[in-house]
Amino acid sequence: MRTAEYPRPSRVIAHFSDTHLRDPADPLVRGVVDPRPHLVAALDAAAAHAPEAIVLTGDLSDDGSFASYLELRRIVEPAADRMGAQVIWVNGNHDDREAFSEVLLGGSTREPLHQAHHLGGLRVLCLDTTVPGEDAGEVTAESLAWLADQLAQPAPEGTILAMHHAPLPVVQDLAASWELHGQTTLSAVLAGSDVRAILAGHFHQSGFGTLAGVPVHAATSLCYTQDLATGRGLRGTDGAQAWHLVRVHAHTVTSTVAPLGHHPTVVAERSAEESAAELTRRGIRIEG
Ligand SMILES: [Fe+2]
Ligand SMILES: [Fe+2]
Repeated sequence: MRTAEYPRPSRVIAHFSDTHLRDPADPLVRGVVDPRPHLVAALDAAAAHAPEAIVLTGDLSDDGSFASYLELRRIVEPAADRMGAQVIWVNGNHDDREAFSEVLLGGSTREPLHQAHHLGGLRVLCLDTTVPGEDAGEVTAESLAWLADQLAQPAPEGTILAMHHAPLPVVQDLAASWELHGQTTLSAVLAGSDVRAILAGHFHQSGFGTLAGVPVHAATSLCYTQDLATGRGLRGTDGAQAWHLVRVHAHTVTSTVAPLGHHPTVVAERSAEESAAELTRRGIRIEG
C-alpha cells in the first residue's frame, strides 16, 4: 500500500468574490446580468466540498443598498448553515461601509472594516482596502498599523489575509486606474509574518502571483468576468463565472478554480465511495 503524497486538507474554504448583488427591485447589473443565480449555483457546488468557511472578498453589493445586503444574507446564510460553514464578509469598492456593516457585521459604522476571524488555529484577517467613493484601493498607514498589530502575535496554523483589491500587477491597462495603492508598504508588513496566502478579488478574472513571497489568489467574479480576448483592452462578459476551492494543508494552501455551469460528460462520474474502492484496488491510501 502506498500513501499519497499529501493527506487530505486540514481546512477547506470556499472563496467567492464580486457577487455584485443589487436591490431586488432593480436586480440587473449594467442592465444585463442578474448575479443571484450564479451565487446560488456557486453555493450548491461548494456544498459538495463541505467547506468550513465561505470567504467573500468584496464588491458583495453592486449598488451599496441595504436591500442588496439583505438579499445577500437571504441567499447565503441558509446555504452556509446547511454546510455548517462560517461566513466571512469582506467589503470592496462597490460596498457601502455603513449598509454593509449594519446588515452583515451587526453594527453600523463608516470606519474601515478590518476584521479578525479564527477557523480553529487558522487566523483569517480581513483588511479593508477601500477608499469611499473611489474604485481604486489604498493600504493606509492606519490599515498597516492594524495589520502589523494583529500579526505581531502568530497564529498556531498561520494566517490567511482576505482583502478586496488584489495586490497583483494589472493584466488590462485600464485596470491601473482602479488598482491597489501602497503595495510596497503592505509588502514590508507581510515580510516575515505568518501570512500563508492572500485571498482577493476586484479584477473579475482569476489571477495568481506573489507579494513579498506570499501567494496571492485572486478570484474572478460571480457576476460578470473580463474577456481576455480583448488583449490589453477590456470587455466585461456574462460568462465564465467561477469561485475558488481553497484547501489548507500543513505546508501549502491551494486554490482550484471552479467554473460554474453544467457541461457534457466526457469521463463518466464516479462517486467518492467508488473512487475510494478504486484507490484501494490500486494500493493507494490518502491519510486524514
Ligand atoms: Fe467587482
Ligand atoms: Fe472592486
